[in-house]
Amino acid sequence: MKRSSLCGLVAVLALVACVALVGSVSAQEAKYVGNAKCKVCHNKADKGKAWDTWKASKHAGALATLKTDAAKESAKKMGVTGDPSTAPQCLECHQTGYDAATKAAPAELVADDGVQCESCHGKASIHTEDAKKKMKGEAVEMGAHIKKAVVEADCKKCHNEKSPNYKPFDFKAAYEKIKHSAAK
Ligand code: HEC
Ligand code: HEC
Ligand code: HEC
Ligand code: HEC
Repeated sequence: MKRSSLCGLVAVLALVACVALVGSVSAQEAKYVGNAKCKVCHNKADKGKAWDTWKASKHAGALATLKTDAAKESAKKMGVTGDPSTAPQCLECHQTGYDAATKAAPAELVADDGVQCESCHGKASIHTEDAKKKMKGEAVEMGAHIKKAVVEADCKKCHNEKSPNYKPFDFKAAYEKIKHSAAK
């Protein structure tokens, strides 16, 4: 084989490898699954009953809140006209996954669930796949594809002065109200 054609072959192989790599990276991108999927694994009493704790929290009622008279008052403060429960300006903080550009949230998410698990822990499709593999006995690192360390800055994406009902945000006190971890 001539040297130049060998180089050509190497270049083609490198390109193929590169395309395959990029392909597998994008196949790895997580999607929303919706928090109905989390309940079966994350509601154990010795681990803080994550699902029940969320369900009882104000986050679970965040969309319902937009259908109240108080919401109409809040809308006035922000100069939002029309139904607050369909207003992009409100939904960006009151509904997980809402995208103001497309005026929609992914179909996997039930709008009435308001602010769900994945608002804080990130898109969980790869994590739920990992869990299935683990149950089949495969060795998987369960923390690899889910965000565990949810910190103050994550909360402040919504708990900030753009909220028409902003109350100074005290992370420690707020965290105590939604805490769903194993006793430490
Ligand atoms: C089929 C079971 C299963 C499902 C479904 C599942 N998980 Fe998990 N998850 C696990 C297991 C197992 C762990 C390892 C820790 C443990 O045993 O609690 C874990 C760990 C986690 C952790 C902590 C990671 C760490 O580093 O400790 C978070 C956060 C989490 N899951 C969130 C979610 C969310 C949000 C959903 C739903 C969108 C979900 N999980 C769905 C089984 C599951
Ligand atoms: C995606 C937006 C969003 C994120 C992220 C978020 N919150 Fe919230 N939070 C809300 C909304 C909206 C409400 C109001 C819900 C209602 O009253 O209907 C709320 C309400 C609360 C409340 C109830 C307030 C009260 O008056 O009792 C607590 C506590 C709270 N959040 C804690 C937290 C903590 C702690 C974090 C971070 C770990 C966090 N939130 C992250 C949107 C968010
Ligand atoms: C920047 C994020 C954000 C935006 C935008 C936002 N909210 Fe909220 N909303 C929150 C948070 C966070 C809370 C919880 C209050 C707190 O503890 O600060 C809340 C609470 C509320 C409450 C309950 C008030 C109370 O005192 O318990 C109502 C009603 C409400 N929002 C309506 C609306 C309406 C209507 C819109 C749109 C016009 C809107 N919000 C836009 C984040 C937001
Ligand atoms: C408002 C934000 C928020 C929401 C919504 C939320 N979490 Fe969390 N979650 C946290 C924070 C903060 C921690 C503690 C992180 C740490 O310890 O570093 C946590 C911890 C966890 C852990 C680890 C528990 C342990 O024992 O260490 C699991 C599992 C988990 N959450 C699952 C869920 C599930 C399932 C849902 C929905 C049903 C949910 N979370 C909803 C903020 C949230």
